[in-house]
Parts: sequence; structure tokens; C-alpha cells
Amino acid sequence: MMDTGLIPAPLVVEGAPDGRFTLDADTVLWAAPGTEGTARWLSAVLGAALGLPLRPGPEDAPQAVRLLLDDTLGPEAYRLVAGDTGVEIRGGDAAGVFWGAQTLRQLLGPDAFRRAPVRPGAVHEIEHGVIEDAPRFRWRGLMLDVSRHFMPKEGVLRYLDLLAAHKLNVFHFHLTDDQGWRVQIKRYPRLTEIGSWRARTKFGHRASPLWEEKPHGGFYTQDDIREIVAYAAERHIAVVPEIDIPGHSQAAIAAYPELGNTDVVDTASLTVWDNWGVSKNVLAPTEATLRFYEAVFEELLDLFPADPDRFPEFSGFFHIGGDECAKDQWRESATAQARIRELGIADEDALQSWFIRHFDTWLTARGRRLIGWDEILEGGLAPGAAVSSWRGYQGGVTAARAGHDVVMCPEQHVYLDYRQAPGEDEPVPIAYVRTLEDVYRFEPVPPQLTEAEARHVLGTQANVWTEVMEDPARVDYQAFPRLAAFAEVAWSRLPASAERDFAGFERRMDAHYGRLDALGVAYREPAGPRPWQRRPGVLGRPIEGAPPNV
Ligand code: ACM
Repeated sequence: MMDTGLIPAPLVVEGAPDGRFTLDADTVLWAAPGTEGTARWLSAVLGAALGLPLRPGPEDAPQAVRLLLDDTLGPEAYRLVAGDTGVEIRGGDAAGVFWGAQTLRQLLGPDAFRRAPVRPGAVHEIEHGVIEDAPRFRWRGLMLDVSRHFMPKEGVLRYLDLLAAHKLNVFHFHLTDDQGWRVQIKRYPRLTEIGSWRARTKFGHRASPLWEEKPHGGFYTQDDIREIVAYAAERHIAVVPEIDIPGHSQAAIAAYPELGNTDVVDTASLTVWDNWGVSKNVLAPTEATLRFYEAVFEELLDLFPADPDRFPEFSGFFHIGGDECAKDQWRESATAQARIRELGIADEDALQSWFIRHFDTWLTARGRRLIGWDEILEGGLAPGAAVSSWRGYQGGVTAARAGHDVVMCPEQHVYLDYRQAPGEDEPVPIAYVRTLEDVYRFEPVPPQLTEAEARHVLGTQANVWTEVMEDPARVDYQAFPRLAAFAEVAWSRLPASAERDFAGFERRMDAHYGRLDALGVAYREPAGPRPWQRRPGVLGRPIEGAPPNV
């Protein structure tokens, strides 16, 4: 089969370059039971792009795209065969069929990524051949921070399409932080009335003297969330919501001042934070705070239902943050200190563990699984809890050795807010240089783990924090093209980092840039930012040198 630059690279490609199959108005779509979702997606998306009806038709039609399940294939695996009578996609499950359909779209060229035909009368053909494929990791994710800068619903749906196009299947939805609360909670309307917007915003990183002197905000209604979750599910993407506690909570405290440490700060005068960093305003460790968040989580569990049929290995995860909780206020607060004594625990760090363990037990009792940033390991967790290892590999090593599942997202490798090149032209440069090649050479499994321990590595995700990404085009710039390299790391069975064929990946990227252009992705070009992608004079916080190997 012609090397059309498939990304992520499939496991096996066998070409028969003398034959070609042409998709045209007579090509029908035959969908066996269990593949109806992919059939709908193909006729809606591919049909619109190519201007073809792709009508339902019989299996033995002279020309067809045929979709079926095949239980000899593994989870999410597919086998795509193109021959004289059409294209057959067999999947080990419904997700496998869907990923096979994504491959078919890539084989059809960049026009297949548009929303309407641009070349009337164009011939849409693919070479005969066979592709066999299956993912390396089950959890292949992207975290998007919609708190620091809000991503309107249309933008989120678009990102779900971009994930699907790269065979990524987890959307970690960072919904709350100091700078904004982004989801409607009916019982507590002030969370969005007050908590979802701020009067102004720091432009650049903390050191920057600049301010964007206009209100910034937005939130998703509960129906918006239902739509996002359903849209993701149709694309075999699990949505993992994150509500960050007990730190990163200033927006919630601004809305409901009683959630804060009222005996040490005048929380009634707090506003949603307009600057970056780690706020010292954290939740008070009171029974009232626990009850408040239980009520919030009750509403959210309904909005983000467990879906074990579709996501057997990680259905029902709920992310509670748990990172970077400043302890200053707890040290000063008589209420917090009384709580420490009453619980008979050692100190403020133990108080943080008590907070997390409360919700671990609470979620487990409701058949759900807690996941949090690696700080949650400090203090012990219920067996089902999982960890997002962000401060390097160490959290992942500790978690896996303690029998916890782990998602590897070390900041030194896959924080896509980090700058992608040295030099003055990178917009608002953050932290280390992480080039396309660096991301391509990222190895998710910590080398210290034994094979048995490594089975706890559910997979990997890239994280996009949006302090310096004021609009969706800036998010595109930071995410792409590196997310394409990340997708290949997460899906494909690549050799060890040093042996990876980056030059070959770059050659396939030539084709992939055409797809990203058709999709309207404002990626960073290999030569650097375009003039309007620069932010001259806006201070970031670059760190010089290579990241530590931790
Ligand atoms: C994080 O980057 N604070 C998880």
C-alpha cells in the first residue's frame, strides 16, 4: 500500500501497488452489528468531505466499505483490507473499527479532512493492500486546561475530532483552578456566576508587567457537558473530568468564601485570580467543605457516567487534582490546627492526605475510581486509585510499585505549554525546550520498572496548560505538530528512544501537515512561528538547559 504518511504509524502494512480501489457515488456502506457508530461517522464526515453519498448497502454490493467485528483481533485492533470490491475494516471491538476508519480517511489524502469537497469530480482512490494495527497503550490522552483560558464548547468538540484523527482516546478535562470554574453546578450557582470569570488577566507569565484589561470567562452548561461527553463517546474517547482540590481552588473560594480559611484571610474579599502561579488560597479542611464538594461531585458523576462497555480498563475515573496545595494558611489557621489534633495526624501534609483519602473512599463507594496528580501518593491511597505522574518519572515508579495504575505525563517531556524551540521568536517561552524530536523520543514506561510493575502503566498523556494561550489558535500552536509525535509514541510500537526513526517520522509529517492544513490547525511550522504567532516583548519564564532526567 502506498506510503501515504500514516500517523501514528501502523503495525504492519502490506502493499499490492498494482491495484487501486476508487470510492465513488456507487460505493455503499455495509455495517455489521456493533459497527453502526463508525458507519454514521464515515457517511457524515467522509461523505461530506468527498461529496459522496456512502449510502447503506448490502455486504455483497460490487463496491462497498464493509465494517465488521472480529473477535480474533484484540481490543482496539483493526485490520483494513483494500481490494477490487472495496475496503473491509474488521475491528477487535467497536473502537478498533473506528480507528480503522480513521486510517481509511488518512489514506484518502488531505481533502478527506475538509468539511466540503474542494475538487468536484476528483477521483478518490486507495491502493490495494492490508494494514494490521493495534495500540501499544490503552490510555492515550490529552489534558486541556480550560480554566486559565476558557475554550468555548465548539473548540472542545473540535479538539475531540483532532484527538480522534490521531487515535488518541482520553480527554482529561481540567475544569477548575484558581483562575476560573468552568462547569455549571445547579446546587451552587455562584460557582459560575462569580467563579467563571475574572475582570482582567496577566498577559505573559508572572514576571510580565502587562495586563489584558478586559473580562475573561465562560463555562459549560450541564447540557454542554452531556453533549461533549456524548460526542467524545461516539469517537471512542473517554472524558476524565478534573475538579482540583484542596489547592488550585481560589475561583471556588471567591464564589463561596466559607470554603476558604476564613480565620486567616478575609476570603469574602477574594476574587477569581487574575495572575499565574500557585495561589495560597486553599480549601479549609472542614466538614462543610467536604459536604460542599460531595454535592458538586454528585452532580458531576451524573454528567460523566461510567461507561464500562466502551472503556473497560478505565471507565469511571474522576480526577481530583491534589497537586501543589500550599500549606501556609493551614499552618496559621486555628481551625486547621484543631482539625489536625482532632484527627490525630502529624501535620499539614497529613491533612492534605486526609482530604484526598476522604474523596478516594467516597468515590470508591460509588463505584468510581479516583485519579490525581502524583502528590496524592504522599499519604497512602485506596487500591483502585490511580496517579498522573507529572513531576517526572518518580511518581509513576512509586505508584506502580505500590500497585497503583499510573498515567505517565512527566513535565520534562510532554508538557506542551513548554516552548518548542530556543530563541526569541517562540511566543511567551515557558520552561524547557521540547522539540518535535524530543517528544518523538519520549518513552512513557519508566526503565526502572519490572515487567509486572510496568503493567500498571495504563498509558500516557500530553498536558496543555493555558496560562499563556489566550485563544484556541495559541493552543493549536503549542499542541501541534508535537501532539502528532506524541500520538505515535502512545499508539505505535516504536523502538527504544535512541533508535527511533525521526527522519522517517518527519517524512510522514510532510503528508500530515497537509491534513492539519485541511483541518485548519494553526500548528508551528518547522521553520518557526509565523509573524502573527509571535508575541514580541511578552515575558515568559524560560529555563535554560536540558531538563533534569528525573
Ligand atoms: C501540575 O502541573 N501542577 C499538575
